[in-house]
Amino acid sequence: MMPDPRKPPNPPKPQGRPDRVSLLQYAKLFRKDILSAQPDRLYRAWMAEFKTPFFRSFMINQPDLIKTVLKDRPDDFPKSGRIAEGLRPLLGNSVFLTNGDSWKRQRRIIDPAFEGGRLKDTFPAMWEASEAMVARLHEQVGKPVEIEEETSHAAADVIFRTLFSIPIDHEIATQVFARFRDYQRSQPILNLGAFVPLPRWMPRFFRKGTRENAKVIRDLIAQLTDERMRAIQDGSAPDDLATKIMTTQDPVTGDRFDAQEMVDQVAIFFLAGHETSASALAWTLYLLAIHPDWQEKLAQEATVLEQRDFGVMSKLRLSRDVFREALRLYPPVPMMVRQSTCPERFRNRNVPIGSQLVISPWHLHRHERLWDNPDGFDPDRWGTENGKICQRAAFIPFSTGSRVCTGAGFAMVEGPLILSMILRHFRIETVSGRDPVPVAHLTVRSRDGIWLKLSHR
Ligand code: HEM
Repeated sequence: MMPDPRKPPNPPKPQGRPDRVSLLQYAKLFRKDILSAQPDRLYRAWMAEFKTPFFRSFMINQPDLIKTVLKDRPDDFPKSGRIAEGLRPLLGNSVFLTNGDSWKRQRRIIDPAFEGGRLKDTFPAMWEASEAMVARLHEQVGKPVEIEEETSHAAADVIFRTLFSIPIDHEIATQVFARFRDYQRSQPILNLGAFVPLPRWMPRFFRKGTRENAKVIRDLIAQLTDERMRAIQDGSAPDDLATKIMTTQDPVTGDRFDAQEMVDQVAIFFLAGHETSASALAWTLYLLAIHPDWQEKLAQEATVLEQRDFGVMSKLRLSRDVFREALRLYPPVPMMVRQSTCPERFRNRNVPIGSQLVISPWHLHRHERLWDNPDGFDPDRWGTENGKICQRAAFIPFSTGSRVCTGAGFAMVEGPLILSMILRHFRIETVSGRDPVPVAHLTVRSRDGIWLKLSHR
């Protein structure tokens, strides 16, 4: 069929590999990039099996099976320990890595800080971070800019302002941010251990610098948490997320996080909270660059930003729909892995104990048997029948069930707000010869960055 010349081309998608490859070829492809290591048939399959000599893994793409694993019986499918290996030096025993009772206790203490009412309290800090981003972008007008650098900076700024009431140019915040970049550069693809057929007894090597950087980051964070603990004790602590979390008692045991535990949690808030939002925002801006009609709609909508309070969020509907569409096409967390703890039978197949279950928002969000126009950019879809059904059953950028992202509500304020602020001030164009190529690192990034050109509106 000839492509329709009036329809803009679909946004970039990695080319799948041929259906059959050897294990060695697969491992090699995988090292390059998880997304292009997968065959195209996964965009049509309900379930697929990868047999390796050491363990079995299954990708599950069928909405009701995903619901079984993530929502109905999460305790039977804990997080896979393999994922934790790459992250342990930085995250210690954080809520992202734990399972069972210690995870439940951590969530009981953390969740109240992210409830709806608290989001309203964090709004002024998000607003200030958005304005600071706009000010930085004014300096970049007219020249090609690698936008992920900018969105990372903004998302890290949001985290420090909301968590510790300090901006990113605070001495410690700046150092954490810089060290964190080095950490990522020194760290191999973090999900690697979860899929590649290495037996458990084989030692995992971290690249030089990974452990060192993790220690420096944790020491810096410890300075912030120690200082905060003292401020809480002498009654001078600001009313922000760190204070809220560090003063919340576990309703079951009555205890609180000690300073060391708080370091683990801050490390994950920083990691999970800035990488993901930065990736989502960068892809959204790229999608807008190739759809100037949507830029105009968002700029028009952004006039409501005259109103500087939380109530404005309910008026940024288009911005939210565009951000949501970017989360569908480029889910920052492309895959999640769980482990089976009892023998299961899924789609007439035996799933033995200890199998790795891969749930892939990347494939689910583009599933050809579920979504209309699965690879196209269409923020209006959320108002259609198909879009509404899929939003409930096949859209999980923040995961779902009891282990759902703690920051989901937070991210759905931060993303549309920053987006609207940017569109209110700038027009965005692509840079020729620099089309982004999606690859899955810790989050879905572009292989050589996302390059855009801004002009004043
Ligand atoms: C667009 C932005 C974001 C996306 C797409 C995202 C996505 C996710 C996903 C998919 C998970 C589940 C991972 C898994 O089960 O393997 C997760 C977990 C988590 N996220 Fe987010 N996240 C975002 C922003 C944030 C923010 C802003 C914060 C905090 C400030 C945050 C904190 C967390 C934490 C603490 C967990 C672990 C929850 C648990 O395991 O119980 N995230 N996130």
